[in-house]
Amino acid sequence: MAFRPAPSPDDSFPTETSKLQAETEDILIKHLPTGSSSPPVLQRNSHLQFLVRNLVQGFPAPYTSQDASQPWLMYWTLQGFSTLQVALDPANKQKVIDTVMAWQHPDGGFGGGPGQAAHLLPTYAAVCALAIAGRPGPGGGWDQINRKKMYDFFMSLKQPDGSFLVAHHAEVDVRGIYCLLVVAQLLDLLTPELVAGTASFVASCQTYEGGFSSASQPFYSNTSPSTLLQSPRPPLGEAHGGYTFCALAAWTMLQPFSKLAPEPKPKVDIKTLVRWLTHMQGSEAELGGFKGRTNKLVDGCYSWWVGGAFGLLEALGVGQPHEHHKPSEDDDEQENWDDVDDSLYNRKALQEYILYAGQHPAGGLRDKPPKQSDAYHTLSCLAGLSSAQHRMVVSQERREQLISAWTPSSGASSLPDGIRKAVFLDALSWAEEEGGSKVVGGGVNRVNATHPIYNLTMTHTEGIMSHFYAQQIPPRIKKA
Ligand code: FPP
Ligand code: ZN
Repeated sequence: MAFRPAPSPDDSFPTETSKLQAETEDILIKHLPTGSSSPPVLQRNSHLQFLVRNLVQGFPAPYTSQDASQPWLMYWTLQGFSTLQVALDPANKQKVIDTVMAWQHPDGGFGGGPGQAAHLLPTYAAVCALAIAGRPGPGGGWDQINRKKMYDFFMSLKQPDGSFLVAHHAEVDVRGIYCLLVVAQLLDLLTPELVAGTASFVASCQTYEGGFSSASQPFYSNTSPSTLLQSPRPPLGEAHGGYTFCALAAWTMLQPFSKLAPEPKPKVDIKTLVRWLTHMQGSEAELGGFKGRTNKLVDGCYSWWVGGAFGLLEALGVGQPHEHHKPSEDDDEQENWDDVDDSLYNRKALQEYILYAGQHPAGGLRDKPPKQSDAYHTLSCLAGLSSAQHRMVVSQERREQLISAWTPSSGASSLPDGIRKAVFLDALSWAEEEGGSKVVGGGVNRVNATHPIYNLTMTHTEGIMSHFYAQQIPPRIKKA
């Protein structure tokens, strides 16, 4: 009889939630191969065809509801190509640039489509799409981004407690803070003024569970002039993988500013965070996929939001001594990793979830079977697969190469050079740990490594940052 992992307990008191959980497990188990021991295969070509169809023919009717998320559809598609190691030809790149530039708002930032109001979320997606397809010079997109207006747009969203509205007349949400910080880092717009108080706000979103929620109660009284409250505000809502990734990535990006924060310094409870993150990985009956919150279902997109959050811990010095048994090509071979993998989560099981349950037979990746694939889940599953395959670490060696090549600003930037340099070095010191990759199914399933914070390849990150910081980037020395 085929091996069947123990189902989740329901306390003999079935509820709608426990029934859905049991149904999900039944479906997931059916996606495990029976008998044969041949490894799962990443259906690269069908995923590429799915991406090409969306980019070239346009998105089919079900995407109508995403009319205000056009930059996201573009970014998910382009970064999907990058993860699958495919580059666009110059004509398609130009089409992308022209399309994206039509979303720039005259008062700064990008909207969800032509003529739409600027919003932090599509601004991140549009700038990342330009990092992938754009270039310097006329018509290349990069120099057509109005950085001055972008900065003013960001400042106009700032709240007295360090948080940001996602758009004018809108709400505060850590997703917006993540998006703002990524754009500010890529475009060399980050200033102490912009992020004053932001780390405190981010820290206040951590809940009793250890993960982060979308926001917290406002930290200021609504009098005029507004005054900051003394005590930390309670988080608003439930710990969730999506917000946790954004908060942790924001916290990481704010590290160069931590010395400037007034006492008492904001703190994140890393121990409860790690505990919560590890609990988000599903059981064997859930094929080791991740869920986004306690007692909810596993979903392929959390492969990135939660799986990827483990990658961020590396930047905060949380991890474990890396001791690899044999850093060699053999890493790609099928092996039992039970006693060789020292990760904080089961990287093998996550890859299996994505490969067995996350791939739609008709191309593209998905939340879980029997759902359809879509652009968002395609990228999140591929990015999660990437972060489970590769171990990205902060490399002291790479940092030193970047320090040697650093050219102080010649007055081109009005920002303090020490901060710019710290941001630049932190962003680009990530490197793949040698011998640290673990690819289920071997080399044929290997996807590109992705920047743990930005979800862009290192090459695209270096390209755009080299331009905006006016720095030469030394080539990566590949050891024999
Ligand atoms: C719950 O949906 C999902 C949310 C409340 C938001 C999730 C946030 C992200 C995925 C982060 C996005 C990041 C950026 C940068 C835009 P649900 O109730 O359908 O799913 P669930 O049952 O899995 O919680
Ligand atoms: Zn999902």
